[in-house]
Amino acid sequence: MKKEEIFAKINDSNIPGLPPAIKEVFAELKNPATLDMQSLIEKIASFGELETLLLKQFNKNYFRKQFHIKSLHEAIRYFGARTIQNILLYLVIRSFSAKLLDKTGFLRANYWRHCLGASVAAHELATITGDCDPYLMFSYGLIHDIGIFVIEHSLPELILKIREVQKKGLTHFDAEKEAMDGVTHEDIGDWLCKKWELPDEIRNIVAYHHRPHATSLNSNEVFLFHKADVISATYYESLMGIYSFHDRKPVLDALGLDPAIITRIKEILPDEVNKIREIFSF
Ligand SMILES: [Fe+2]
Ligand SMILES: [Fe+2]
Repeated sequence: MKKEEIFAKINDSNIPGLPPAIKEVFAELKNPATLDMQSLIEKIASFGELETLLLKQFNKNYFRKQFHIKSLHEAIRYFGARTIQNILLYLVIRSFSAKLLDKTGFLRANYWRHCLGASVAAHELATITGDCDPYLMFSYGLIHDIGIFVIEHSLPELILKIREVQKKGLTHFDAEKEAMDGVTHEDIGDWLCKKWELPDEIRNIVAYHHRPHATSLNSNEVFLFHKADVISATYYESLMGIYSFHDRKPVLDALGLDPAIITRIKEILPDEVNKIREIFSF
């Protein structure tokens, strides 16, 4: 299938827009420098359900501080507006994903484990290096592969083709390029971020998490997230139904991380992912 045809099909496949409530909140969050906290809180609070959902997420494992977060004001103060935005996006993607028909035997639950693995690894790496905000990095993990969900929704036949191509020994990313005329889930996620008018920082994580060198915006975050994603993908490859037939060691070595850090993250991944799977369900 040609590139133009792929995007035409996605365009025609009735991908839902952002719910109006979320859109209004995102518009408020657009410029953090001029963010009027009171107005934002009022906006979120005016959609009662949104406030309840957000507070519920923020009082669970990865976001729980030493104390109970009682208000949105506290949540924004401690976790920042961008983390709020990512949690809202997760809630949107979850409801979008719930409507997928699983036409391809796509292992959504296992794929979701990889996303949570990337969240856990990104949180851990950010904590160890002190380079980025661990909570924000965790929340990126929830949304970074939205392009894959769009492929499942709009182009299910290509999921099967990608899997076939991968049997030749290609990575999942390269198999996508071969099966989709050079297009990858990064490009498709990028398309969705533009459709939803998401901020560039989020779009950049979605659009460059496999090619961090290709962007200069929030590059600290994109590089750190890329490393977390590779570690999680290596661990979850077989669970994801995405098998690669090549040695992953050089890929991990190329991350330039202390091998002890990689070992530590791999050790904590299964338990941590299991712990948060109920909370960030799919
Ligand atoms: Fe990805
Ligand atoms: Fe990923």
